[in-house]
Amino acid sequence: MGYRVVVAGATGNVGREMLNILAERQFPVDEIAALASRKSLGTEVSFGDKTIKTQDLDTFDFTSWDMALFAIGSDATKIYAPKAAAAGCVVIDNSSLYRYDPEIPLIVPEVNPQAVHGYAKKNIIANPNCSTAQMVVALKPLHDRATIKRVVVSTYQSVSGAGKEGMDELWEQTKAVYNPTSDVPPKKFQKEIAFNVIPHIDVFMEDGSTKEEWKMVAETKKIVDPSIKVTATCVRVPVFVGHSEAINIEFEEFLDEDEARDILREAPGIMVIDKREPGGYVTPKECVGDFATFISRIRQDSTVENGLNLWCVSDNLRKGAALNAVQIAELLGREVLKKG
Ligand SMILES: NC(=O)c1ccc[n+]([C@@H]2O[C@H](COP(=O)([O-])OP(=O)(O)OC[C@H]3O[C@@H](n4cnc5c(N)ncnc54)[C@H](OP(=O)(O)O)[C@@H]3O)[C@@H](O)[C@H]2O)c1
Repeated sequence: MGYRVVVAGATGNVGREMLNILAERQFPVDEIAALASRKSLGTEVSFGDKTIKTQDLDTFDFTSWDMALFAIGSDATKIYAPKAAAAGCVVIDNSSLYRYDPEIPLIVPEVNPQAVHGYAKKNIIANPNCSTAQMVVALKPLHDRATIKRVVVSTYQSVSGAGKEGMDELWEQTKAVYNPTSDVPPKKFQKEIAFNVIPHIDVFMEDGSTKEEWKMVAETKKIVDPSIKVTATCVRVPVFVGHSEAINIEFEEFLDEDEARDILREAPGIMVIDKREPGGYVTPKECVGDFATFISRIRQDSTVENGLNLWCVSDNLRKGAALNAVQIAELLGREVLKKG
């Protein structure tokens, strides 16, 4: 006996990946429902070798469905997640709406799987921000060995992190560079993203940081350890899929770069590609479609006490969103619902 699973946002970047990954990982599905807005009613989406038609989220009855993977943005989540949860369907949500609610677990299964048992308070589990998810997978095994004091991270985030519209904007603006008769002004992004980089993701906060940067701070504390200090600069780059991060870590204890490399090689969800030669590292293009978080350029930082630098790359639609949500579904199944 398997699960009755809902994917809400099935026509979107993340929702489509959720369907792919549920099929790829042979999640025990008895029945699947793909939901989107009314305008997409009947749109066909793939689930393994099957094609399914999307239904209207607004009229869907969640009664007797086991779990719902949501990827529809905070505004719609606010309306529909409580409805699903009240009907007894456990919501695994990708938006930022519930991430900071102390009664809702925020989970990266390689890092804090034990938090799953907190789902029952609201029948909702939150999935972290894409840039946080890949970073904490790398931080956790190092923190367990040498205790992290402070992290300085700069991100290089792909346009798919801003949904389908973000990808379309990069594509259209890139074409317009070669065909200057058409003008594609910035809409989804604040400035032109083609052949450019933009140091601004999400809204500005009072202290001058952006909400994306704040999310990395707050979520790392909730998932790994509240005592870790994080400072982030989040940047959008003209890459379609795959987020990259340059991470500088300061530890309580000395951690040798070779030992750090060995620890990361053994850690769940991580693939170390770290040869000190041209091309001996991973770039976002190479991580697309993969499950792993890739770590390269591991090296001592001698400018601070007990410092280490590394480069971290992952498919933001997978580990940063859909894969992590499916891993949470697997964890919920294994530890709590116990079907399949
Ligand atoms: N992309 C990432 O790297 C990433 C990472 C972590 C978290 N997330 C989060 O995941 C969510 C989805 O992101 P995305 O990149 O997949 O966006 P997207 O490509 O723009 O897709 C949005 C999806 O939500 C559906 N939707 C929007 N409003 C709806 C409504 N009122 N009722 C029903 N369906 C509605 C859309 O349906 P229609 O096609 O019918 O409009 C579409 O299926 C967001 O909360 C985002 O913050 C994204």
